[in-house]
Amino acid sequence: MKNITKAVFPVGGMGTRFLPATKSIPKELLPIIDKPLIQYAVEEAIEAGIETLIFITSASKHAISDHFDPMPDLREKFAKNKPHLAEKLDTLPLHVKRVFVPQGQPLGLGHAVLQAETLIDEDEMFAVILADDFIQSDDNPLKPLIQAAENSQLATISVEQVAQERLSSYGVIAPKTWEKDVTQVSDIVEKPAVADAPSDFGVIGRYVLPHAVFDYLKQTQSDKSGEIQLTDALFSAMKGEGLQAVKLNGQRFDCGSQEGFVLANLHVAMQDEDLKHSINQALRSN
Ligand code: G1P
Repeated sequence: MKNITKAVFPVGGMGTRFLPATKSIPKELLPIIDKPLIQYAVEEAIEAGIETLIFITSASKHAISDHFDPMPDLREKFAKNKPHLAEKLDTLPLHVKRVFVPQGQPLGLGHAVLQAETLIDEDEMFAVILADDFIQSDDNPLKPLIQAAENSQLATISVEQVAQERLSSYGVIAPKTWEKDVTQVSDIVEKPAVADAPSDFGVIGRYVLPHAVFDYLKQTQSDKSGEIQLTDALFSAMKGEGLQAVKLNGQRFDCGSQEGFVLANLHVAMQDEDLKHSINQALRSN
């Protein structure tokens, strides 16, 4: 088996919860303070050994490509007097490749992942990263998934315990027996009613998948809303070779929601002494 060096970033979503901001700005470019969500996700991937970034895009997302373009003229200008700004323009190391694949129609996460099929070799596993799951952790959240997937060759997903009332916003698994932070999965359901949830472990937007998942995706029927769900293909993988889950070690913010986005910004701001001071002052005076 090859090393895991490719990651798929589905970025074709509409970002309706952030309209009107997302009329012209892809939701993945919304910043946590000064850095867009997609850049955090890309940095995490590169740190975990990813060398090819596959963006599954919609027509209006050219700004994501622009964000990762080098700006040699401006860089040179800043390099003399403002080197700290010059560094901020380096959004992608030179060895990393970018590929942009149009999704065509917004037919769900599973459909988005399927668009990467021709870019992944038969004997290759690949990562899928949802940039709006913003993760703060001392350890890279993707690395343990890659390690578990390399050891087992199984589709491997990231999970965390989610409050009951939020379970119906996520894929939810039934774990078998945890060995440290890894378990085999005996059930997975997309956005169940709370009463039907097989546990309180929700799926987070980090996956490492084998090529076989494309076959399962092609056999997956659209759901009631016309979308092809990745979760349904993972259910088939579970019934076939098996599926495993790794507990997230870190704090996740659901930046697909306004609440999660604001909390993520606050969390990162509080790590900066100046911003922390201003925020604490502002809160005290309220
Ligand atoms: C998607 C997946 C869901 C997963 C979630 C993680 O849902 O379909 O299984 O739990 O990402 O963020 P979405 O957030 O696109 O509705």
